[in-house]
Amino acid sequence: VASKDSDIVFQSYGRCCNNEIFFIDFYDRFMSSSPAIFERFRETDMKQQRHLLRNGIMQLVLYSRGMSDAKLRSLGKSHDRHGYNIRPEWYELWIEALIATLREHDPVFSPEVETAWRRAIAPGVELIRGAY
Ligand code: HEM
Repeated sequence: VASKDSDIVFQSYGRCCNNEIFFIDFYDRFMSSSPAIFERFRETDMKQQRHLLRNGIMQLVLYSRGMSDAKLRSLGKSHDRHGYNIRPEWYELWIEALIATLREHDPVFSPEVETAWRRAIAPGVELIRGAY
């Protein structure tokens, strides 16, 4: 992924990720996208989960910049059919919830910022989804 994309993404994430409301809004949106997804988080400590996701998104972006895949491979394992059993088609909903939440929270969101995000997270999401 071009380093221009990841620069745009790091700046955009910096405008969003220090505000816990960003992660609250993300999970509200993501969990509303399907009853099966809502069910998966029924017993989850969401405060802790929001904190873990803050780091997880960073791992996706760092991977697109060439960082080791070790952390994402371990997420692939925890999410696979023997773990949380996260169905591959749910990752589309995850991406769309993330983009919609960024659009709402990043004051300078634009089509260029959106494209940079989609390109930057795609390889990491595919790695986790592909581990199913
Ligand atoms: C847990 C990240 C997609 C459901 C986690 C954790 C992280 C994470 C960092 C905590 C560490 C762990 O338990 O391994 C991500 C990223 C995703 C993604 C970066 C996108 C590529 C999804 C999707 C679902 C999902 C699509 C669908 C429902 C869960 C569940 C847990 C979890 C159920 C465990 C919650 C608990 O401990 O109760 N995820 N996740 N994740 N994720 Fe994901």
